[in-house]
Amino acid sequence: MTDLAKELAAVVGPAHVLTDPAVAMSYLVDWTGRWRGTCRLVVRPGSTEQVTAVIAACAAAGAPIVPQGGNTGLVGGGVPVDLPEAVLLSLRRLTDLGPVDRNGTVVAGAGSTLASIQQHAHAAGWDLGLDFASRDSATVGGAVATNAGGVRVLRYGDARRQVLGVEAVLASGALVSHVDGPMKESAGYDLGSLLAGSEGTLGVLTRVRVRLVPQLPARAVALLAVDGVAEAQAVLDSVQSEVDGLTAAELFLRDGLSLVLAATGAAPPFSRGWPAYLLLECGGRVDPLEALASVLADQAEVRDAAVASDATGRAALWRYREAHTESISAAGVPVKLDVGLPAAGLADAEYAIRAAVDEVAPGARVIIFGHLAEANLHVNVLDAPSDRVDAVSDAVLRTVAERGGSVSAEHGIGRAKPRWLGLTRSAADIAAMRRIKSALDPDGLLNPGVLFDR
Ligand code: MLT
Ligand code: ZN
Repeated sequence: MTDLAKELAAVVGPAHVLTDPAVAMSYLVDWTGRWRGTCRLVVRPGSTEQVTAVIAACAAAGAPIVPQGGNTGLVGGGVPVDLPEAVLLSLRRLTDLGPVDRNGTVVAGAGSTLASIQQHAHAAGWDLGLDFASRDSATVGGAVATNAGGVRVLRYGDARRQVLGVEAVLASGALVSHVDGPMKESAGYDLGSLLAGSEGTLGVLTRVRVRLVPQLPARAVALLAVDGVAEAQAVLDSVQSEVDGLTAAELFLRDGLSLVLAATGAAPPFSRGWPAYLLLECGGRVDPLEALASVLADQAEVRDAAVASDATGRAALWRYREAHTESISAAGVPVKLDVGLPAAGLADAEYAIRAAVDEVAPGARVIIFGHLAEANLHVNVLDAPSDRVDAVSDAVLRTVAERGGSVSAEHGIGRAKPRWLGLTRSAADIAAMRRIKSALDPDGLLNPGVLFDR
């Protein structure tokens, strides 16, 4: 063991310092297989005090730190790529959940999975406003650090909007902690907002105080077949103006559904295939199925429909959408891009994105799905030759930027996209961000290569 490994073992216990690359492997490769790293060791502290001591020891040794939650990120932000001297700091052991208070807030350890917070909230009659398919592994610390979105953004907003306060260790070893106190506060800078979306470059989250939302006892899901993205948007516009309690509006297309059917063995939802599918979910105190169905009955764009309000039926419909990520990965290692676009022109943007990929990587498959209400498309490119990966990203992100879109709607910039940050953020924005970074982490210890080029 090196001196640093010994020092860290004294802090967290030898069982929680992994120096054997074979043992550390699950921390060093993201689950899509695109991002692979190396590091000098993985350390797994079990308390805020231990995180503070780990960061102080790493700082004294000049070792870069790569924080990691559930390793479900999609932009390489938690993988120490080209950082053999780094320490990978896993927060997964910080799983303490405090009591749900009467205002519906809870303080969760950064390593708590979204599913564990959801269950904890349900037991108290509340729910978490944040949800996505990797809920069993994704941690709240990682979700906040990347300002993750998911399938409930339309109703409750993204991860940042759920944060009432954070506890975090800064590169200096200072602990900032504001997870107690009143719900409402206007006293100074909101460090929670600053750290949300900072992708581990400004501080390491150890606890997060999240607001919960009332649990909705009744839910209805509708899966609709339509002729394309524009038709899906038209249906969504009507539903949004006529139905109460919409919680999700998710889009997928014919080629994505084919991959899902092949990977999961599920039966097709309809007797024939359609160009596009819109999955809607409504939640309320009374079963929203009837209200939803009666609005849908008037929608000329709806070519076929399946609805369910029982738990099994809802889960079966959701599976067609939620299995996209794993089914795409089962077909190869995708170039994953996550773009936000103005809602007007979304259908045109879809065609333009496909054409842009075809130009730089002819024959590559483009699988698009996403969160329709936010006009957030997940663009997954399969079968692009490895020497065309950057060209594919460049072509897609420039196409999006030309249309006033963002290079990242909910996955973050990570190690995948620093060179394209300037397509979305102005030079003045980036200069301000860099000044914040150097004020809080002057030696560039925290997650180098993420957000900004090294
Ligand atoms: C999703 O919406 O399913 C996630 O963002 C994951 C993905 O884009 O693959
Ligand atoms: Zn998503």
